[in-house]
Amino acid sequence: MFATRCEEIAPFTVMQLLQRAAELEAEGQRVVHFEIGESDFPTATPILDAATMALKHGRTKYTPAQGIPELRAAISSFYASNGVAVAADRIIVTAGASGGLVLLASLLLNPGDELLITDPGYPCDGVFAHLVGARPRSLPVTASGRFQPTPESIQKAWSDRCAGMLLASPTNPTGTMSSRLELDGIIKTVAAQGGFFILDEIYQHLVHRPRDYCSGLELSDDIYVLNSFSKFFGMTGWRLGWVVVPQQAVAPITKLAQNLFICPSAPAQYAALAALEPEAMSIHAERRDIFADRAAALSQRLTALGFTIPVMPDGAFYLYVDVTHTGMDATEFCWRLMNEYAVAVTPGTDFGKVDADRYVRFAYTNDLASIDLGCARIAEALQAWGVAP
Ligand SMILES: Cc1ncc(COP(=O)(O)O)c(C=O)c1O
Repeated sequence: MFATRCEEIAPFTVMQLLQRAAELEAEGQRVVHFEIGESDFPTATPILDAATMALKHGRTKYTPAQGIPELRAAISSFYASNGVAVAADRIIVTAGASGGLVLLASLLLNPGDELLITDPGYPCDGVFAHLVGARPRSLPVTASGRFQPTPESIQKAWSDRCAGMLLASPTNPTGTMSSRLELDGIIKTVAAQGGFFILDEIYQHLVHRPRDYCSGLELSDDIYVLNSFSKFFGMTGWRLGWVVVPQQAVAPITKLAQNLFICPSAPAQYAALAALEPEAMSIHAERRDIFADRAAALSQRLTALGFTIPVMPDGAFYLYVDVTHTGMDATEFCWRLMNEYAVAVTPGTDFGKVDADRYVRFAYTNDLASIDLGCARIAEALQAWGVAP
């Protein structure tokens, strides 16, 4: 009775874990949350003030489908301030990166096509392919390759049906990114196969280690870049993001945006103008540094408890942690930790199949006191389970 694509979409274990967390919280227990891929900080005050002003001034009507010109210009200037030249007319404002993914899948994939995506990777990516009658195709990435693809791994995974590839850098769930040289090799390999290349840069400004480029747009004007106000800018619920497309794709994607969404949220767009101003930017940067401190604290505590973190993240707010030494697979580990110690983490199985049973994702979207409490509970659990270091 419902479309078959609904059956092709696997439900996430983390949703069931969240339900269990809600039950425990309803019983009065304090659950420590390491499963949430959303900043714990509230949206910065200058953005809230701008939104209030926008509402007061009646900014509640449809806007151009590509977004208001002021915001497209501000995003273009933001790229320029990072040394990247991107013309405003190549920028399309969207309903989050998710809205951008709907547009790009609709623009680039025909029924029967395949979209190469990394495993592990952001779990919704494959769903956007299904939505337009295409299929995701797995590109395995492993700890030994810092969870990033190489030209060789892409060539190996590429099939006759592949129309293109989608890569996030830094990526979810591992937080790793490719170097400039590596990314250049990846882009060239995909181009040599005749495919399109989508680069998801949603965590671009949450990088806390030295890097040799800011955006893939420095390497090519012929790629599709996704971004969002959700993560670095702390605006998850406002549902605002953007895509940068090659010049020749502007007209067709605009047509799709007009038909599928009419426009992105008007008040959110006016609020986002403030997100790019110096006052809010300094708040975002401060928070990025706090995430870096948390990454260091959490990784140090987990390592002391005997866990292995095979690759330290370059950015985002995730640690991908090997739980093999517990003698449990990831799903059992997550359920026991939740049921017995009220600590929520996400099993690797929610992000793909490759080595998924041995990894769990810890999100450090939590203050240091909560990180300490969570780690104290995990220490207690390991003791009780007889696997303490
Ligand atoms: C890699 C990646 N891409 C895209 C998204 C979607 O983000 P949004 O639609 O909130 O911009 C997420 C959310 O977690 C993500 O991790």
